[in-house]
Amino acid sequence: MSSSHSPIGVFDSGVGGLTVLRALASLLPKERFIYVGDTARVPYGTKSPESVRRFSLEIARYLKKRHVKAVVVACNTVSAVALPDLRKFLPVPVLGVIEPGARAALAATRTGRVGIIGTLATIRSGAYEEAVHRLDSSLKVFCEACPLFVPLVEEGWVGRNPVTLQVARLYLKPLLAKRIDTLILGCTHYPLLKSVLKKVVNQVELIDSAEETAKAVRSRLEQDGILAPYGRRGECEFFSSDDPVKFTELGHKFFGRGLHRAERIHLEGV
Ligand code: DGL
Repeated sequence: MSSSHSPIGVFDSGVGGLTVLRALASLLPKERFIYVGDTARVPYGTKSPESVRRFSLEIARYLKKRHVKAVVVACNTVSAVALPDLRKFLPVPVLGVIEPGARAALAATRTGRVGIIGTLATIRSGAYEEAVHRLDSSLKVFCEACPLFVPLVEEGWVGRNPVTLQVARLYLKPLLAKRIDTLILGCTHYPLLKSVLKKVVNQVELIDSAEETAKAVRSRLEQDGILAPYGRRGECEFFSSDDPVKFTELGHKFFGRGLHRAERIHLEGV
């Protein structure tokens, strides 16, 4: 049985979800977090929805055994294709990143023309589009899959890298032609490309759903009366399904600070 003392499970296909964990840990400093990165099977964004659902349920099974009090799906691809399955399987609140991202975009747009970028699986699912339209069906939404961004970020080709800049120009051209004024960064890796993207889109508002997700998690915990007790010190534990040394090395770029060494876990199916 879980209680307010129990940890919060956070998971992603790999290290990208650490951008979400960073926002969670800073907004909820008294909480204990268990982060799982499925580095043995990353990327999820190029896989079929069936595979992503199966992998996600295997991680959920692990988190269930750890008696978490809530699960944050830090991966956009998983949030796009597996949220209903996870909610059916887990007996605790399950929160994804798409709904909060859509809400932030609605608050930011002035012209009602919103762009969305993400992995192939996220864009094909239409989940962001649906989430935006559930909030306001009059918004005009334009989507573009940007599959090369994930490997470029993992390679560390961010900042002023000319190759990344050129790739960004090509991917974003069709969205700029639609005169979007807001762009949802619908993938865990894209916040690390903010400076490159800013150069390409100029005045367009960039939406990073991590902070909005953290706020949604806090409200849900408050509402359910399961916030960590006052006076407790929070902590983050890290687990990966492949080499934990590699996870830790790559992870600090996404987490924004050093992280405790990850431990390897065995997920069934890996
Ligand atoms: N975490 C994934 C997402 O946010 C990106 C990496 C992957 O494709 O697994 O969609």
